[in-house]
Amino acid sequence: MSKENNQILKNTNAKILDEFNASIMFDKELYSQDIKGSIAHSKMLAFQGIISFDEQQQIEEGLLKVKLEIENGEFKFSLKYEDIHMAVENRLTEIIGEAGKKLHTARSRNDQVCTDFSLYVQEKTKSIQNQIKDLISTFLDISSKHTTTLMPGMTHLQHAQPINFGYHMMAYANMFKRDFERFSSSYERNNYSPLGSAALAGTPHNIDRFKTAEFLGFTAPTQNAMDSVSNRDFALELLFNISTTMMHISRISEELILWSSYEFQFVRMSDEYATTSSIMPQKKNPDVPELLRGKTGRVYGNLISLLTVMKGLPLAYNKDTQEDKEGVFDSVKTIEISISILNEVIKTMIVNVDKMEKACKIGHLTATDLADYLVQKQNMPFRTAYYLTKDVVSKANSLNKDISELNIDEIRSSNDELKNINEEIVSYLNLKNSMNSRNSFGGTSTYQTQIQIENIKNWLQTI
Ligand code: ARG
Repeated sequence: MSKENNQILKNTNAKILDEFNASIMFDKELYSQDIKGSIAHSKMLAFQGIISFDEQQQIEEGLLKVKLEIENGEFKFSLKYEDIHMAVENRLTEIIGEAGKKLHTARSRNDQVCTDFSLYVQEKTKSIQNQIKDLISTFLDISSKHTTTLMPGMTHLQHAQPINFGYHMMAYANMFKRDFERFSSSYERNNYSPLGSAALAGTPHNIDRFKTAEFLGFTAPTQNAMDSVSNRDFALELLFNISTTMMHISRISEELILWSSYEFQFVRMSDEYATTSSIMPQKKNPDVPELLRGKTGRVYGNLISLLTVMKGLPLAYNKDTQEDKEGVFDSVKTIEISISILNEVIKTMIVNVDKMEKACKIGHLTATDLADYLVQKQNMPFRTAYYLTKDVVSKANSLNKDISELNIDEIRSSNDELKNINEEIVSYLNLKNSMNSRNSFGGTSTYQTQIQIENIKNWLQTI
């Protein structure tokens, strides 16, 4: 190979390696947290007499200029500086000169990257929580309108017992409430500042980590520098919390897809959230909830991927952890868009009350009510009542009726043992009465559903 060709090959390899090694093309997302962290660090250095207040002021003003350049699109992101931390520091020194070179005193990129990433995770936790709060409010609005709207409650996707649609929506409100709380507890647990941990062992400089923690809104500094620079639990918790919320989003999406099918027709989604088929002109496809369901997969992937990156790492910092960011950014973006789209889909969907109520007349939803009646009023053992009820169901089938539509003579003639059953049984088999009879705490009755709505409304006031 000629000398010239050899040089070209070396240059190409060097470029590939730079690209491979660098994170700047994605960790630029952390620019505002990086600048915030650096300002706090410089303030602490000045308070501790490690740099002068004049130098601190130059650093702070310079960093704010860098921030502006980034936000105005004037900043040149180049592979020359491996990551956002080096890029910001270098540009700062270009702008302010010597004082810029003092910024990195008593810190390392190892604690810097953890700090930036922690700040990002904490900020996103709060903003995702706000979105969840809005979503819960939407579920409360819909629930309040439908506490008497009958629908078939299902188990195994088979008609089981009559419930009301508001109650079904409140099941989701409760799931999203737990999601909100899960984010809160992660926020509290992880609200500690790694800054000042330095490379892995702390620093000989007389720093005050409590001060930087306070400047950054953290509860306190982390306890062990080695743990701090090795730790990505906060990012994993965010990924898990997002995954669980996406799982809930996926479940309602699945129900929306079913409910908007010809077979159900319980809801109609606004045309904006459905698309047509390129070949079948009559079709309206629920693409949006399908995508919400589908995107859950990538979010789970991001969680598993970071868990896998972390599982074999010796302490302390290893470059492997640079792989922590893209998945987190992706999951955050995915959940942000997913919550806001789901919120709109739910707000704009049309609930087909008639279809839901009609569907309640299929599948003898009140059969359990007959069995419960016999147990409660006639002191019958449940298993005996169960078999007698089966006879009534057979009778209804033979008449092509639902059990809720039988008259007293039809019930009495189902089995000899029922021939004297009180006429009041007819009202027990009525769908609405049945729904309202499940009045135990947390049950489906209109009354209990309203209590559930009130409870979550009150909780919303406290957060
Ligand atoms: N770009 C690196 C990351 O994202 C920053 C920390 C680098 N530290 C080091 N010692 N190489 O993890």
